[in-house]
Amino acid sequence: MAAKRGYFITFEGAEGSGKSTQVKLLCEYLAKKKIDYEVSREPGGTDIGEQIREILLNPKNSKMCAVTELLLYSASRSQHIYERIKPAIESGKIFISDRFSFATLAYQGYGRKIDLELIKKITDIAVQGIEPDLIFLLDIDPLVGVNKAKIKSQAIYATENGDRLENESIEFHNDVRNGYLELACQNHNVKVIEYAPIEIVHQQIIKTLEQKFGI
Ligand code: TMP
Repeated sequence: MAAKRGYFITFEGAEGSGKSTQVKLLCEYLAKKKIDYEVSREPGGTDIGEQIREILLNPKNSKMCAVTELLLYSASRSQHIYERIKPAIESGKIFISDRFSFATLAYQGYGRKIDLELIKKITDIAVQGIEPDLIFLLDIDPLVGVNKAKIKSQAIYATENGDRLENESIEFHNDVRNGYLELACQNHNVKVIEYAPIEIVHQQIIKTLEQKFGI
């Protein structure tokens, strides 16, 4: 008999929203409950995807145009779906991804102003019919979030600033944030959580999972 399909859960949010911390706490919670899961991130999640991530985020690649950026994020996603996400959820696991296609609509759509319908078409090619069952959108004011995020990236890229995306203007980050909030209004699978102390956000995430999936 085929395994029951697992759940696909993604975390989204502007820079410095605390996604990675919440992903880690959720994994600890699932491990304690002995629930089988896999965790990953975008861009990245596979060997090929991590190489694409390096190109995308390296501040040296300042000449990259918006369409190249869109196609690289989508290429990383296509590999991620093929190698990891599809096999994991088909075998009944919970798959958690730190960012997925909502990020492309928010950053390349609302941020870079690429036509949203065009992004949806390219995303459809990459995702092969797989959509998140639940999206956590962690909302934060970019004035607070971007500076937090840059501090982390300074060590990775040995720069005084952040990665290539973090170095965008505050207007860009405001457009991304507002885009995320607009997308959330149009999609019933999104749970928006306002910036709050780590444990409070974690409890809201657990409560949502209990209500939605009984886990
Ligand atoms: P993060 O892993 O630190 O969140 O960094 C990923 C960066 O890439 C972040 O600035 C958001 C950006 N991004 C896009 O612009 N489009 C996408 O489709 C994805 C997945 C991420």
